[in-house]
Amino acid sequence: MLSTSSVIGVIGAGAMGAGIAQVAATAGHAVVLFDTNAAQLDKAKTDLAATLGKLTEKGKLTAETAQQIQSRFTYATTLEAFAPCALIIEAIVERLDVKQDVFGKLESIVSESCMIASNTSSLSITLIASACKNPERVLGIHFFNPAPLMPLVEIIPGVATSEALLLTAKATIDNWGKTTVLTKDTPGFIVNRVARSYYGESIRIYEEGMADFATIDYALKTAGGFRMGPFELMDFIGNDINYKVTETVWEQFFYEPRFKPSFTQKRLYEAKRFGRKTGRGYYDYSPGAVMPEPNKDEALAQQILNRVLAMLINEAADAFYLGIASRDDLDTAMTKGVNYPKGLLKWADEIGIANVLATLENLYSEYGEDRYRPCVLLKRMAKENNTFY
Ligand code: NAI
Repeated sequence: MLSTSSVIGVIGAGAMGAGIAQVAATAGHAVVLFDTNAAQLDKAKTDLAATLGKLTEKGKLTAETAQQIQSRFTYATTLEAFAPCALIIEAIVERLDVKQDVFGKLESIVSESCMIASNTSSLSITLIASACKNPERVLGIHFFNPAPLMPLVEIIPGVATSEALLLTAKATIDNWGKTTVLTKDTPGFIVNRVARSYYGESIRIYEEGMADFATIDYALKTAGGFRMGPFELMDFIGNDINYKVTETVWEQFFYEPRFKPSFTQKRLYEAKRFGRKTGRGYYDYSPGAVMPEPNKDEALAQQILNRVLAMLINEAADAFYLGIASRDDLDTAMTKGVNYPKGLLKWADEIGIANVLATLENLYSEYGEDRYRPCVLLKRMAKENNTFY
């Protein structure tokens, strides 16, 4: 683990970079924050002062601590400022060429032992690292938005990442008060892979005319205990972002049918109906607009939940079966990264593996579509009467 005397570098002072820098400085590190856009650095500085001011007002920080956190920041306009850093986390634009260029340049500035991490949501860590002379020092450290509030951080080794370095990075982020999970360098890591069916299967249910948005949201919240329904959540995240993640995961999985995007969301994206931020998405957020009433039929709600949940569990089981992450990390990722009411593997045990499998097999035999094929692990577990826990 890095001690607080180690300097942390953050590249990119946008939504994620500014938040990550705040987390590191709050943990006691000196932080170098860099952005090519000077106005963005100014904004990050002003926003930090405002955030810490609010925390002080609420009594969560003393004025002295707030002052100390701010004094730990250096706002840099050249990459050379990263020379003293022990760990650098990159959170710039999601473009492989730009990231590779920055990683390559950094290597000639920093010490031999400096760890360089990317906060990328969708690019391969191994591919980013391939631009470095020493890819062993490169890893993925994936925070969730907003970084100061969301507890989960996914830690991702690339093919060449050194084991010792990985453990040091993980222990450091744990020490910052975050909950870390280890995951393989595969598209979407844990959360953005496993959560896809929450959106995709819900949209499919809508497209088939089984229920409308409000009813599906109602079902998942009341029968499932999810904090937000899929449609309100997509409108909250933004249909631009959510659609792009879906499309990227699908493409990177070599067009795996389980991840196939929908025309419903693609058209919303094309119409710039991004959700709350544009005033319209699945729902209308304009002043005076009335939210549609759900159908509160309990049997329908249960049917919707069973179908979406079976798809989610199938995805989690598949990730577990393929060694993408451990059982505990998979469940932690979904409860801490996207606030699911329970870990999906734990939930599978509660429902009964045979029941989950029956839902999937019914869908598979009725539709004949590959997206509904049950994970072989669930089949074996049901046969042997096994549980995940
Ligand atoms: P953003 O657009 O808010 O900020 C990116 C910042 O990087 C901007 O301030 C820009 O001026 C700066 N920048 C661009 N090129 C640069 C360069 N060559 N050198 C230095 N600074 C440069 O983006 P956001 O949302 O903060 O995302 C950053 C990264 O974090 C992306 O890789 C994204 O995939 C990832 N991510 C985003 C999440 C989100 O919910 N927004 C969640 C988790 C990861």
